[in-house]
Amino acid sequence: MPSIVVVGAQWGDEGKGKATDALGDRVDYCVRYSGGNNAGHTIVVGGEKFVLHLLPSGILNPNTVTVIGNGVVIDLDVLKQELDVLASRGVQVPHPLISANAHIIAPYHQTIDRVTERFLGKRRIGTTGRGVGPAYADKVNRVGIRVQDLFDESILRQKVEAALDQKNHLLVKLYNRREIDPVQVTELLLSHAERLRPHVVDAARVLNDALDAGRTVLFEGAQAHHLDVDHGTYPYVTSSNPIAGGACTGAGVGPTRIDRSVGIAKAYTTRVGEGPFPTELFDDDGDKLRSIGSEYGATTGRKRRCGWFDALVVEQACKVNAFTDVFLTKLDVLTGWETIPVCVAYDVEGTRHDVMPMTQSELHHAVPIYEFLDGWSEDISAARSFDDLPDAARRYVLRLEELIGCRISGIGVGPGREQSIVIHDLL
Ligand code: GDP
Ligand code: IMO
Ligand code: MG
Repeated sequence: MPSIVVVGAQWGDEGKGKATDALGDRVDYCVRYSGGNNAGHTIVVGGEKFVLHLLPSGILNPNTVTVIGNGVVIDLDVLKQELDVLASRGVQVPHPLISANAHIIAPYHQTIDRVTERFLGKRRIGTTGRGVGPAYADKVNRVGIRVQDLFDESILRQKVEAALDQKNHLLVKLYNRREIDPVQVTELLLSHAERLRPHVVDAARVLNDALDAGRTVLFEGAQAHHLDVDHGTYPYVTSSNPIAGGACTGAGVGPTRIDRSVGIAKAYTTRVGEGPFPTELFDDDGDKLRSIGSEYGATTGRKRRCGWFDALVVEQACKVNAFTDVFLTKLDVLTGWETIPVCVAYDVEGTRHDVMPMTQSELHHAVPIYEFLDGWSEDISAARSFDDLPDAARRYVLRLEELIGCRISGIGVGPGREQSIVIHDLL
């Protein structure tokens, strides 16, 4: 039985949730390994829409056990709310299993996220404001609160006090905000402890035992390659490692245990928040992509910036994540253009780059060099095999495959669970 990691190949919102859900009942364990509720993964089942921020997308498949790995940061209120909403819609499950080592997003992390962004002004990152960055900062700074701390009240009190000690100085003296009371925060966190207790496990052990027993494990990436704190467009990134390698640290499995690495790429490009985006469109085509593709953030509702497919962006992700397969989503959105530009290289102040440049300054000055592919006008949302697609759509896919250097094994032609073309089975 294979284990497989699913990773965003661009700047997020590629359709990872749908792709994960579409793999269906064959997945025994679906694991989130990085990020927190900055993610927004949309799944449409029988016309009904679900948006998951923290829970793994496998939760809608009755045979799948979901797991929140140690690499995730957890907002306990959001966790409760998501589970309650699912229950009210008829999805009631005894999981997710939650790693005792996962870190907690405390209310002060959200406060700091928001005031820091405001303080940065024009230099802001455009974060989701969910406290994700500050929670990871505390983790690395060794003043984080972990899920296991909820079960040792005196330790929890000490840790919250220690975490707030410096922050309160910062909040009051620099940001002109009110002090946060550690006792109140501790009480709030403790109020979640008993409900959480049955979910908390040594997730690394559970997953390794499952793999030993031949179970199928899917590691569901959040965010994307180019938002990775090490490999993305730093500093315009998230604060974790969404790349495939992040599944090893964020779930506690060795690299030899992962059989397939699958990149999810949109047939064009979008980005939310600040940061470089060479193929971004500021004209009617950009608006048209946004409106046909419903490109509004699933988490913050912000307008997504839209542009043409950038082969350099996806090629880079293919290399670093060693993608065995790419799943190309939202091809249906491109229906109706006479020609479709695809970025095949950059011009950086007179020099041609066929792969992403090494430095951020070069990327900021990159001007896309486009190849113009024929478009199609036929509705492709009912296509279920590669042969159902019009010639021009097939040629578009095959050209992208050539440019990114990885086989395209699946194609999305609509938001619905069943609206996919499978060329090579992923499991
Ligand atoms: P994720 O964060 O990668 O899971 O992606 P999001 O859910 O944030 O954004 C993807 C959006 O595109 C959602 O609204 C999906 O329902 C939708 N979607 C996914 N795949 C397809 C597809 O192939 N075609 C169309 N039209 N919509 C899709
Ligand atoms: P999914 O999993 C798109 C972006 C934010 C911001 C930057 C840092 O749905 O693809 P953060 O709150 O993480 O500190 O914000 O990262 N960002 C995302 N963009 N999709 C996401 O998740 C994102 N998660 C974070 O917009 O630019
Ligand atoms: Mg999303």
